Amino acid sequence: MKASVFTEYGPPEVLHLTEVAKPSPKVNEVLIRVHATPVNFADTLIRNFRAISPRKFHMPFLFWLIGKVNFGFGKPKITILGSEFAGEVEAVGKDVTRFRKGDQVFGYCGPRMGAYAEYLCMPENGVVAIKPATMTYEEAAAVPYGAIMALNILRKIKLNPGQKILINGASGGIGPLLVQLASSQFGAQVTGVCGTQRLEYIKALGANRVIDYSKEDFVNSGETYHFIIDILGKLSFSHCKHSLEKNGNILFVSFKMKQILQMVRTSIFSGKKVICVLVNEKAEDLIEIKKLVETGKIKSIIDKDFPLEQAAEAHRYAESGMKKGTVVITIP
Ligand SMILES: NC(=O)c1ccc[n+]([C@@H]2O[C@H](COP(=O)([O-])OP(=O)(O)OC[C@H]3O[C@@H](n4cnc5c(N)ncnc54)[C@H](OP(=O)(O)O)[C@@H]3O)[C@@H](O)[C@H]2O)c1
Repeated sequence: MKASVFTEYGPPEVLHLTEVAKPSPKVNEVLIRVHATPVNFADTLIRNFRAISPRKFHMPFLFWLIGKVNFGFGKPKITILGSEFAGEVEAVGKDVTRFRKGDQVFGYCGPRMGAYAEYLCMPENGVVAIKPATMTYEEAAAVPYGAIMALNILRKIKLNPGQKILINGASGGIGPLLVQLASSQFGAQVTGVCGTQRLEYIKALGANRVIDYSKEDFVNSGETYHFIIDILGKLSFSHCKHSLEKNGNILFVSFKMKQILQMVRTSIFSGKKVICVLVNEKAEDLIEIKKLVETGKIKSIIDKDFPLEQAAEAHRYAESGMKKGTVVITIP
């Protein structure tokens, strides 16, 4: 089968199309013919993982070390990227009961990666579900990672209709799903913070207000929020605690030991709290997400798609700062 492979870490050019062995499903696995896979944060990070020092990594040292052991220190051990996908079941192992040949599915393979290829095997009890009927393969492939993260982040808090929530990093893989769920599912007043090029994109997803981080520091406006969610760990509690309502929470999706210690300290006293969020994806989440898509609570906005042989071009575009939606690799 054809796959976009990388055998050394580096810039987008390390990705090249090549023939690799087609996987065959184990007794409990499904073989999926991949139709679409987006370029997400993990893809660009892992492609260049050699250059990522513990300092540049957004999570504690231990996570960096686990990442290095899993993905390889000097050379990539996992050579096919792609952690989300949508496609069609081509074959099933003899013990599989949830799926059958011809099912249209979408899913998240996480750090196992492997979706930049014509075929992929997933355990039937992995994070894979029937694709929402209302979405194309491209649209569906763009949903799982961000939606699973967003769903689990919002489960950490009690967000009520009309409450104010600010999402710092609203335009990446996780932010757009947080914006949509906070607004459509919980009826919150959503402020999205992102770069200039993506303000309109975030408005189109339902944000009540958008702030360009390159032009304005939201803490200076005097506005206060019940919840602030920081995707990349760019904020500090001390910097934005005056932007929190009394008993408001700041949630760090990326965090270091400092934020973990702040979480412990603030959990003891009443008042404003720090919450570090760690998400453990589950198959049930994706079934819930499918329903949210089909009831119109989640949509995808695709900016550009690229065929598999142009995966390097897709990465270059995703990293250019120009994208205004998801960048998808298609395997027609
Ligand atoms: N805790 C967990 O369980 C968990 C799980 C998965 C991932 N993560 C973490 O989540 C992060 C990736 O999230 P993602 O996939 O959404 O990333 P992403 O796709 O790279 O998006 C990053 C977002 O941050 C924005 N941003 C960049 N610089 C900013 C700044 N100075 N101020 C405010 N916003 C800024 C970007 O805006 P523009 O693009 O508009 O400039 C974009 O909206 C990683 O750090 C990863 O470690 C955590």
